Parts: sequence; C-alpha cells; structure tokens
Amino acid sequence: MGKKNISTATSIAGVELDSYVCNASGPKCTTYEELTELGRSDSSAIVMKSATILPREGNPEPRLARVGKHGLVQSMGLPNLGYEKYVGFSKKLTKFGKRIIGSIAGFSFEEYVVMVKAFQKSDVDLIEINVSCPNIEGKSLIGRDFGQLRDLLTLTSGLGTKPIGLKLPQYDDPAHWFTVAELVLEYGVSFITCINSIGNTLVIDPWTRKTVTSKNGLAGLSGETIMPIALANVRAFYELLGGKVSIFGVGGVIDGVSAFQFLLAGADAVQVGTAFELNDASCFTYINKGLIHMLEYHGFSSVEEAKGQLLYI
Ligand SMILES: Cc1cc2nc3c(=O)[nH]c(=O)nc-3n(C[C@H](O)[C@H](O)[C@H](O)COP(=O)(O)O)c2cc1C
Repeated sequence: MGKKNISTATSIAGVELDSYVCNASGPKCTTYEELTELGRSDSSAIVMKSATILPREGNPEPRLARVGKHGLVQSMGLPNLGYEKYVGFSKKLTKFGKRIIGSIAGFSFEEYVVMVKAFQKSDVDLIEINVSCPNIEGKSLIGRDFGQLRDLLTLTSGLGTKPIGLKLPQYDDPAHWFTVAELVLEYGVSFITCINSIGNTLVIDPWTRKTVTSKNGLAGLSGETIMPIALANVRAFYELLGGKVSIFGVGGVIDGVSAFQFLLAGADAVQVGTAFELNDASCFTYINKGLIHMLEYHGFSSVEEAKGQLLYI
C-alpha cells in the first residue's frame, strides 16, 4: 500500500482526531494569536495552556533554558490569561474545525470545580485536568497524593458530559500505576495524558557556577531525555486500563520515530511540547509524515493496527 493511503487518524475518548499528533499544553498556546497559529497548523487539536482562576504573570525570567539538543528545563509558574479568556477563545477557535482541548490547573479543589463547570459549558471537546502542576500550598501534587486525587475526582466527575482526562506526573512505582489506574476506572475518567515535565530538576552551568533558571533553579525537565520515562508510564497504563481509557503519550516526541515508539507502547495519540517550543508549527507535519513512514516500513496500514504492538525480547 502506498503511503498516501495510510492515515494516522485516531480518537481520544470517542472524539475523533484527524492525525496522531497534536500540541501539548504549555508551549506557544497561551494567547489567542498562538492558538490560531495552532488552528492553522497540522496539529490535530488545539490544546490550550493550563488555565488558572486568575491571570498569572508566572515566574521571573530566566524561566526556560535548553538542556542538550532536544531538551528544556522550565519554571514558568503557569503564566496564563485566566480561565474565562480560554472559555471565550474556545468558541472563536471552532472556526478551524478541529478539536479543542481545555486544560485547567487549580490551587484548591474549589478552583478546579469552578473551572471544570465553566469548560463543561464551553466549546472545548475535551477537558484535561492538570494534576501534575501546581500543588496546593503545603501539600503534595494531587497526582502524587491519592487521597487528594480521589477527592478531586469525586468533586469533578459528573459535572457535565464532556470527557474529562487527567494530565499525570510520572510514576516509577508499579503500586502507584496500579492505584491510579483503579481510580481512573472507578471514576470513569475518559482519558489520561502521560506525562507532564519532570518536576524539580536542577541544571548547573559549570562555567558560571550558576543555576540556569530563576529563584532556586529547580525546574521541570522535558524533551528527548524524558521519553523512556514517558514510554514506561504509557505502557504501564495501557496494560492496566485494557483499552477502556484513551491515552495521550507526551514526553520527548520529536519525530516520526518517537511518535511510533509511543504508538507501540499503546498511546492513542501523542502531544508535542518541547519540539514545538524549539521549532515551529511545521513540527506537527514533519512528525506525522515520519510516523506514516514508520507505519509503512513495518507494514501497518493504520495506527489502530500498530497500537500497543510492542514486542518483548
Ligand atoms: C514551556 C513549557 C510549559 C509547559 N506548561 C504546561 C502547562 O501549562 N500545563 C501542562 O499540563 N503541561 C505543561 N507543560 C508540560 C508539557 O505539556 C509536556 O507534558 C512536557 O513538556 C513533556 O513533553 P515534551 O517532552 O514534548 O515537552 C509545559 C512544558 C513546557 C516545556
């Protein structure tokens, strides 16, 4: 079969996406101009920056620095325009005819509830609840504290009919994968997004002896280096959730090869953060084309056929 016949169309929580590749919340998706740029690109969805109740300036500069060729550390501090703006943007963005995904990040359970209710009434197709940044002051990340995660799910599931997903932090303890998978199934979470950037990492410039980002230098690591961790999380949840819950794979997707690796691990679609931040919107076209080459090389005719087809040696 010629490669023109291979489609990478897929779906997340029953919502169809024209291709396997879209942007991740954060990089270049904060302003209306940036979101329209995504609307015009080959990203199969417009994923919006995580919104908070009030607009935020974020942390002082420098708050983003390169690590190696394909990596970043960032301590952005959730700069965004406030959720009401994103609810408004969702209506205007429908003109692009592609899926719109709202992302929310609260500093309390009440804030999450207010924002879930608002996005449920908006024009977004999916709602991604970010439980991997920030943390409620004095407490662990919600995604790392399963009591808090249960409370949040109790409060937010059943607030509307739009599918709700969780943007998860990375786990490396099988017991944690198991507990989160149980909660996801118990509360009917429609999709999960694995993984957020890896928090609280430290990069030191040996020549200046300085940190590379402001404040105490602790920052979230993203890009190619975190891909093996992201793949392990996708695979673990793919096995535990048994296809009942859709999975967005994110973390280090830079080309068709890495997108294909997420597909083998079991991701229903991938999101691209760092590669978009460091390049331009043509990355979505490039990654999708590369994925088609990989499918063709392995003799698959659709993403569905290749999904989860990891082989063990
Ligand atoms: C500059 C920057 C800002 C980010 N902001 C958010 C955010 O607001 N909400 C969120 O859920 N993830 C955020 N992320 C995390 C990304 O969505 C993604 O999970 C992570 O970067 C790993 O993917 P990547 O390796 O493709 O970048 C941000 C990442 C970067 C680099």
